[in-house]
Amino acid sequence: MNIAILFAVFLILVFSFVILFGAPYLPTLKPQAQNALDLLDLKPGQILLELGSGDGRVLKRAAKQGISGIGYELNPLLVWYSQISCWRYRKLVTFKCRNYWQVTLPECDGIYVFLLDKFMPRLDKKITKDLSNPVKLVSYAFKIPGRKPAAKKGGLMLYKYPLGK
Ligand SMILES: C[S@@+](CC[C@H](N)C(=O)[O-])C[C@H]1O[C@@H](n2cnc3c(N)ncnc32)[C@H](O)[C@@H]1O
Repeated sequence: MNIAILFAVFLILVFSFVILFGAPYLPTLKPQAQNALDLLDLKPGQILLELGSGDGRVLKRAAKQGISGIGYELNPLLVWYSQISCWRYRKLVTFKCRNYWQVTLPECDGIYVFLLDKFMPRLDKKITKDLSNPVKLVSYAFKIPGRKPAAKKGGLMLYKYPLGK
């Protein structure tokens, strides 16, 4: 097997093993990334948490607006790419190579996710369990079952925790 095939196999494995734990890599498009930030309406100094931060584009855009960010991402290549891409904003944004189901979520002001339908009930429970302060969640494409979004914009939904606030 030559080196190119080995490298291709490595890439396929790194990008596909994540489907055991969450959504595969599919980046949010630029207009939707901005719509997500508009819905979250965070101010400079507030913290945005992204669960499955992909190539870091959403947190980078947020950092340009002075918003701090924490990204959890399972794919080490994407973590590495994000760190390089956001080097200029390294004091604001941190990327961690972690499975977000296995961490206690840190207190934050907003959360952004682009998951899959089947993970939304688990996410709802996790936010409720881990976070005690009010937090806004924006989800791209997938709804939290049984919950009415506080707002919607271009395929994105805003939810406010705790429930009813
Ligand atoms: C649909 S992509 C969204 C990427 C990014 N949030 C965006 O919108 O551009 C989902 C990302 O979550 C990552 N991921 C999936 N399950 C994960 C888990 N359990 N912990 C951390 N990252 C995960 C994948 O590697 C992938 O990069």
